[in-house]
Amino acid sequence: MEIIPFNKPFLTGKEAHYIYQAVYSGKISGNGIFTKKCQKYFEEKYGIKKALLTTSCTDALEMCAILCGIKPGDEVIVPSYTFVSSALAFVRQGAKILFADSYSNQPNLDPEKIEALITPKTKAIVPVHYAGVACDMDRIMEIANRHNLFVVEDAAQGIDSYYKGRPLGSIGHLAAFSFHETKNIISGEGGLLAINDERFIRRAEIIWEKGTNRAEFFRGEVNKYGWVDTGSSFLPSEIIAAFLWAQLENLGVIQAKRKQLWEEYYRLLKPLEEQGKLQLPIIPDYATNNGHMFYVICNNLAERTALISKLKNAGIGAVFHYLSLHASPYYQDKHDGRELSNSDHYADCLVRLPMFFELELPDVKRICDIINLFYKDCI
Ligand SMILES: Cc1ncc(COP(=O)(O)O)c(C=O)c1O
Repeated sequence: MEIIPFNKPFLTGKEAHYIYQAVYSGKISGNGIFTKKCQKYFEEKYGIKKALLTTSCTDALEMCAILCGIKPGDEVIVPSYTFVSSALAFVRQGAKILFADSYSNQPNLDPEKIEALITPKTKAIVPVHYAGVACDMDRIMEIANRHNLFVVEDAAQGIDSYYKGRPLGSIGHLAAFSFHETKNIISGEGGLLAINDERFIRRAEIIWEKGTNRAEFFRGEVNKYGWVDTGSSFLPSEIIAAFLWAQLENLGVIQAKRKQLWEEYYRLLKPLEEQGKLQLPIIPDYATNNGHMFYVICNNLAERTALISKLKNAGIGAVFHYLSLHASPYYQDKHDGRELSNSDHYADCLVRLPMFFELELPDVKRICDIINLFYKDCI
């Protein structure tokens, strides 16, 4: 039986070549030629005012928390159905997280749940574009502007996806992307901070370079550099950037293939949804699909466990996703006790199916045949 893993990192073939170039260029540390190429790509293609590569999306989010001036006692609104880092980056600066619930029909943050959570201590809202599908950014930006809050887009999964024609990551004051090996475009570990509000640019460069004004020094803008602010070593080496450049050069091909696979899953599973047996992803009119993830939503936890097990027995890697952060061992004592039933529903019922560049249409057919059989047998 041929195994179909959940994920398989895709290599374009140019990674080792560019890494070789980086290594023998004599400049292996960060902020060199490949870093600049990658950053320029995001600035030019997606209209981001300033892009800075980071060693992960988590690091980019930590930079956002510092840039927003988060201090102990401040509050930040984050969906509960997300990865730890969306909240942790702000918690490290001392923030209290007010978790917001998802929509009842899709996992993204429901803007109608935000306003009731805003207090005089609120500093920021963190919309997470789950599966690369845009949150309702006009609604979120309108609420944030009215209350004078920062918006940090967690676009970890959002590369090359759009909201009303605007690229994800270019809408909030700040945004963070991930290039972890499970994403569409990868560098092993890796991330990018997108700065859309120019007020943050100078300070972001300093925080990025261990609290020093080294970037200004290398541009010849100051005649010596030193310690001027807080920060960390957030920038990756040129080796990582070289890998990432090989991927970015192939973005079009990668996206086209992933979207084709996504469409095939949707087409083959649609009849099950029409029979009311499971729920498929919703792409609202204002959003595009970047083929990051294909998931189905089962009716309950027992059904999901049985489906994952059925797929596993057939050699197919299907996995569940986030556990609600408000109920996590780390945060449950700090959470205000509100029930977030939609988040819990996705934590219990959502299953992600294999999605990677080298997956082929017959593989998708094989996976969907098993799911169809499962629902024929069990309901
Ligand atoms: C929504 C979201 N935010 C942040 C992250 C963290 O990304 P990284 O692993 O690059 O730090 C992830 C990782 O999967 C994620 O899914």
